[in-house]
Amino acid sequence: MFKKLKNKNQSEADGTHSDLDLHNIPEHIAIIMDGNGRWAKKRKMPRIKGHYEGMQTIKKITRAANDIGVKYLTLYAFSTENWSRPEQEVNYIMNLPVNFLKTFLPELIERNVKVETIGFTDDLPASTMKAINHAKEKTAQNDGLKLIFAINYGGRAEITDSVRRMFDDMIERGQNSSDITEETINDYLMTSQYPDPELLIRTSGEQRISNFLIWQISYSEFIFDQKLWPDFDEDELKNCIKIYQKRQRRFGGLI
Ligand code: IPE
Ligand code: IPE
Ligand code: MG
Repeated sequence: MFKKLKNKNQSEADGTHSDLDLHNIPEHIAIIMDGNGRWAKKRKMPRIKGHYEGMQTIKKITRAANDIGVKYLTLYAFSTENWSRPEQEVNYIMNLPVNFLKTFLPELIERNVKVETIGFTDDLPASTMKAINHAKEKTAQNDGLKLIFAINYGGRAEITDSVRRMFDDMIERGQNSSDITEETINDYLMTSQYPDPELLIRTSGEQRISNFLIWQISYSEFIFDQKLWPDFDEDELKNCIKIYQKRQRRFGGLI
C-alpha cells in the first residue's frame, strides 16, 4: 500500500511538536494574503464576502504576530495590478480599511501597534486615505509591532519610481553612475526603514510572487501555505514559523 503523499509544508512540519523557539522569531514577516475569492466561491458566496472574512484574519494574525514578538508584519492587501478587477470588487476592497480601522483601531492603539503603508497611496480614494491617515496619526507614537499594509503596491513600480527619484537627485548633486550602490537603491525604496523580511508566506497554494517586494525578498525564506487566507489562523502562523526555524539560511556562503 502506498502512503498518501503529504504536501511539502506538512512533511517539513513533521516532528515539530515542540513549541516555537522564541529566540528565533523572524523580525519581519511578509504575507501575500491570497485566496479570499476562492474561499467565498467554495461557499457559493460573492467574492466580497471572502474579502470581509480575510479582514477578520488580519486581526487574528496581527494579534498573534504581536504576541510572539514579530517586529514588522507586511501584508499585501492590494496590488498595482488588482485595479483590473471588476469595479464593484475594487470599491469593496477600497472600503475595507475604513471598516477594519473603525472596529480595530482602538485595539491597535492599546496593543502599541504602529500602522504604516507602502504603495502608491496617493491614488487611493479619499475616504480610504482618510481612514489610513487617521490610523497612522493615532498610532504614530507606538513603538511595538509595525503593521505595514502594502496597498496599491507593486515591486516593479516601486523600483521604477525609486530609480527615477534617485536619478533626479543625482543629477542635482552632479553625481554619476559609479555613485550608485545597493544601499543607495535601498534608500529610495518604500521599505527603506525596514529590514528585509526573513520569512515570506503566501496562502492559497499559489507559488508565485505576484510583484510583491521583489528586491527585498532576495534571501527570504518562502512558505507556500495551502490554506486560503480566511482560513489562515494563529496556529498556522506558528506552524509557518516552526518550518522557518528548521530551515538553514546560507546567504550564498557555507555553514
Ligand atoms: C486576495 O484574495 C486578496 C486580493 C488580491 C485583494 P483574492 O481576491 O486574490 O482571492 P482568489 O485568489 O481569487 O481566491
Ligand atoms: C496578489 O494576489 C495580490 C494580493 C494578495 C494583494 P493576486 O490574487 O492578485 O495574484 P495573482 O493574480 O494570482 O498572481
Ligand atoms: Mg488571488
